[in-house]
Amino acid sequence: MLWSSNFFVKQPCSYETPWHQDQNNGGPSVLEPPLNTSIWMALDDCLIENSCIKFVAGSHLTTVNHEPPSDGHYFGLADTSSFDLDSAINMELCKGEFVIFIDRVLDAAEPYTSDKRHAGIAMRFTTPFVKILRPVKGMIVSGEDRFGFNDIVTPPSVS
Ligand SMILES: [Fe+2]
Repeated sequence: MLWSSNFFVKQPCSYETPWHQDQNNGGPSVLEPPLNTSIWMALDDCLIENSCIKFVAGSHLTTVNHEPPSDGHYFGLADTSSFDLDSAINMELCKGEFVIFIDRVLDAAEPYTSDKRHAGIAMRFTTPFVKILRPVKGMIVSGEDRFGFNDIVTPPSVS
């Protein structure tokens, strides 16, 4: 079930994205239980030079505390004290490529200093037995909803 999608567009002078786990965006998860898989698809070439996403391997194995977002940042700041941030992996993606990850992996992006736009679309998926604790509608993209926990919209038809 697709339950969230949004564009991320970074222009020159955009903020950095601090280390965070998407599931703990300065507060409790909006999913109960917190089961989510995200697809982030590049709409531009997203390389090191224009602040591609970076991940810390193994960070998905634990949930870390976060400070609430501040200074206009969307994400809170994760406690990264138990991780080696120097081992972070830059996830360079060419336009049209995508990465699949769960929302417990630590991710971040450097301050944006390039003149090349960095845009992507994030799509977040869960299963119908998860309750979405936010007033959004889900879209069943495979299988069926046998639980009725969430508001569901019908996907647009293809003619
Ligand atoms: Fe993130």
